[in-house]
Amino acid sequence: MDASQPEGPQVKLLDLIEAMRRLGIAAQPNEPGAGSLTDARGAALAILTPDGTFLSANRSAAALFGYSCADLAGKQLVDMAPDDLHAALASELSMSAHSDFHSFSVLLGSRTGHPTRLVLHQQSVPTNQDGRSALLTLFEEPLIREPGLVDAAPLSEASARDCVTYLTMGQQKERQRLAAELHDGLGQALTLVKLMAEDARMRIRRGQVDDAAQLLDATVLRIRETIGEVRQICGELRPLMLDRLGLPAALSSLCRRVERGTENMSVVFNCDVDDDDVPEHLKADMFRVAQEALNNTVKHAAATEITLGFRRIAGGLLLTIQDNGVGYENRPLPTEDACATGLGLIGMQHRVESHGGTFLISSSGTGGTLVSAAWTL
Ligand SMILES: Nc1ncnc2c1ncn2[C@@H]1O[C@H](COP(=O)(O)OP(=O)(O)OP(=O)(O)O)[C@@H](O)[C@H]1O
Ligand SMILES: [Mg+2]
Repeated sequence: MDASQPEGPQVKLLDLIEAMRRLGIAAQPNEPGAGSLTDARGAALAILTPDGTFLSANRSAAALFGYSCADLAGKQLVDMAPDDLHAALASELSMSAHSDFHSFSVLLGSRTGHPTRLVLHQQSVPTNQDGRSALLTLFEEPLIREPGLVDAAPLSEASARDCVTYLTMGQQKERQRLAAELHDGLGQALTLVKLMAEDARMRIRRGQVDDAAQLLDATVLRIRETIGEVRQICGELRPLMLDRLGLPAALSSLCRRVERGTENMSVVFNCDVDDDDVPEHLKADMFRVAQEALNNTVKHAAATEITLGFRRIAGGLLLTIQDNGVGYENRPLPTEDACATGLGLIGMQHRVESHGGTFLISSSGTGGTLVSAAWTL
């Protein structure tokens, strides 16, 4: 095994992509009242061991439970369920571990203890440990349409109007989560910084200058962390640019920002699409796919060139992100490294395929990586 890889069950990227595709097909809603929310963070995805321990979770899943990705890793799903549901949940997990695909609904509590009914779709993925599978898990909050939001059409028709409804509901959920993050995360961090600064001031007045200096060093560190949190939250909100600029201009601005933020990497944007050509309910997904693929290139590819293409094709639109970097053929996913959640790629795939699009990745050590997403209009 590669010494840089952590011990424990590992999942191959290509197996995970295949599992996501199978899960996407199997978890298609076929009853009125079922469906997934279009949260700007995308689907809530995690990889669990067969007994329900979180190996890895994306930011959506972490936000759903009120944790950071790192804090969620290692937690037990069973501990989040009310005591009287432990046995039932354990038996559902065992069914998932012994079948290819399994879906069930369960009441799970967030960090604050607030219980939410969630539908879990689980698809087994092979790991490097003989005969052991991990469970790729998609958490869905069953939709409850707000009366009067739109008049009741069957959800199974999956009309554009339904998509807009999901989008609106997803945005509302996201606002609630951002408000909670601002309150619990940023609000508390700033309160702490204020207390530390007041403490340092008091020590200076008492002549305890060395103590005060130490405290101020710690305060600066805390302020740096808080700036990081603000950046993170702004990143979540970035699609707001879509409303102001429209999608092509927002993509162009994303490319310029990536280029400015890196050394020796040129980012070319080729676009022949007008904002009016793009259906409203697909814009945030398209922006997020481009953003994640560009982030991946910056983080992992060691590339010198990226080309983002956004083009009209017969009957649809095609988004491509091509880099000339190192590629990721057959690379395992570092599931136990809580800082690398490793679910960005399949999150993109889910965004595209859940709206009927086609998602393809090809990657090689010599040709770099090409991510492409096509939507039929
Ligand atoms: N353009 C790329 N070039 C080379 N390797 C890549 C590229 N994109 C992804 N990878 C590899 O695929 C892995 C999975 O990517 P993915 O986006 O799912 O996770 P991540 O970027 O590690 O974490 P996050 O959940 O924060 O996105 C990465 O860890 C990296 O090894
Ligand atoms: Mg990523």
